[in-house]
Amino acid sequence: MLPEESLPERDAAASAKEKHHNRMEELRRQSAEAEAGGGPERREREHKSGKLAARERINLLLDEGSFEELDKFVRHGCVDFGMQEQRPAGDGFVTGFGRVDGRLVYVFAQDFTVFGGSLSEANARKICKIMDLAMRAGAPLIGLNDSGGARIQEGVASLAGYADIFLRNTLASGVIPQISAIMGPCAGGAVYSPAITDFIFMTRETSYMFVTGPDVIKTVTHEEVTKQELGGAMTHNEKSGVAHFVSADDADCLAMIRELLSFLPSNNVDDPPRRQSTDSPDRREESLNSLVPDEPQKPYDTKDVIHAIVDDGYLFEVHEHFAKNLVVGFARLDGRPVGIVANQPAFLAGVLDINASLKGARFVRFCDAFNIPLITFEDVPGFLPGTQQEFGGIIKHGAKLLFAFAEATVPKITVITRKAYGGAYCVMASKHIRTDANFAWPSAEIAVMGPEGAVNIVYKRELDKAPESDRERLRQEKIAEFRDRFANPFVAAEKGYIDAIIEPSETRPRIISALRALENKRDTNPRKKHGNIPL
Ligand code: HXC
Repeated sequence: MLPEESLPERDAAASAKEKHHNRMEELRRQSAEAEAGGGPERREREHKSGKLAARERINLLLDEGSFEELDKFVRHGCVDFGMQEQRPAGDGFVTGFGRVDGRLVYVFAQDFTVFGGSLSEANARKICKIMDLAMRAGAPLIGLNDSGGARIQEGVASLAGYADIFLRNTLASGVIPQISAIMGPCAGGAVYSPAITDFIFMTRETSYMFVTGPDVIKTVTHEEVTKQELGGAMTHNEKSGVAHFVSADDADCLAMIRELLSFLPSNNVDDPPRRQSTDSPDRREESLNSLVPDEPQKPYDTKDVIHAIVDDGYLFEVHEHFAKNLVVGFARLDGRPVGIVANQPAFLAGVLDINASLKGARFVRFCDAFNIPLITFEDVPGFLPGTQQEFGGIIKHGAKLLFAFAEATVPKITVITRKAYGGAYCVMASKHIRTDANFAWPSAEIAVMGPEGAVNIVYKRELDKAPESDRERLRQEKIAEFRDRFANPFVAAEKGYIDAIIEPSETRPRIISALRALENKRDTNPRKKHGNIPL
């Protein structure tokens, strides 16, 4: 039996145990409250419209069981409009970190079932916290957006929260990969966080993005347009180029994000993750020897070239539906991630226009920022002529692509498969803008312009003077002469602008060998605050 004087101690122990028990109960209660979000009814509504809940999305995105949630118990501090009565744990945003293929990532997901996923001061702080952590840890940041925008009841405090996020997006740009998925509404100023990030994914039927919605547009410009027409996934993948990927649904979107990450380093001082490849680096591809048609005007599909060369014929295309005259995307060579940039003769003859320049420039800059070597396949008749292009500023937009290739210090390898005409020759990672290895196929035509155009200018007087009956014969003769003299790779090779003229079939081993030789490449740009890319 215990001595009498220990009774108070026994009471204290019992009370401590009870307190502990109560705290545990409270923890579980609050945790369940956060996990319930806006409740089963609202969640059901979301499911019915084809959307998953925030936590379901995070679980699909991350390796199983790897999610560590932060700030689950944060509540908003708004006391206006009766908001003090509704202060759910977590406040509608789920934030934390986890793993994708074993690699650390930070993630936030907006829960549309809680105040329409709107951004409060409190959950802006939650996002900023994981952004700061991602920067300190050098890990990618993934945002799953599904929100009615600024929390209307909080007014300027919510706007301030957005601005805090925008600042961090900007400072993180080029340091850690930032990926945005739009999986519901994303409207008003809220669009500018995804817009600053590196890649935007959109779900096909369930997402939309716009600065001003259909109602405002109707009032201001009297245009009638649906949400989907205005800012749906295909609008931004095809027309505006704001989005880089479209997915069938939430699950597809999250799988695509996982795949994109497999090509990317965790930050700007890491190398991209290398995989063991079963595709032999020495593989020759005989079909390439006959892929480029003899007739210079005849199209072929540059994706056939890419597929024949890269590991397992696999290209993860970026911006697939936008500016199809240029193909960009990630692939692997010898197990190493590379960025592919290729003119597409099968679309608008592969000409460079405003959209293709923008698409290419952004991709090249991303690869350069994150140490991903650039492989360029060139077949380009020049820049697209026309008032639309000139008035639209093809000069400054084309200059962006030039600027991007010129400032890039990652390993750069170019293969000219056919046409490399005019300014486009210089722009498309030519030797003169610090490309490390420049190859040409025998079918390459490197010239100021195509033979027809050149002859019409250079021999204009002579052709005008010739009798009409003889004019066409003379023109064809001059074209053949010009083609023979200039429209080939030998003149450029003679000057050392082309390092080697190679058989198309040996392109894969030649590129891989060049990549290996460039493995330790170090190149820098002059010290400066930042360049002034022609925006
Ligand atoms: C607070 C919001 C909200 C918001 C929606 N909700 N948006 N609560 N602030 N911004 C709430 C609704 O009251 C509703 O609550 C629930 O979320 C679901 O909204 P519904 O309207 O029922 O859903 P739906 O019909 O699917 O329409 C979705 C929507 C619409 C199109 C997004 O809710 C909407 O237009 N919201 C406002 C959008 C907006 O103008 N936001 C401000 C943009 S300006 P209950 O309790 O009924 O379920 C902006 C500035 C950012 O964001 C600036 C950064 C610089």
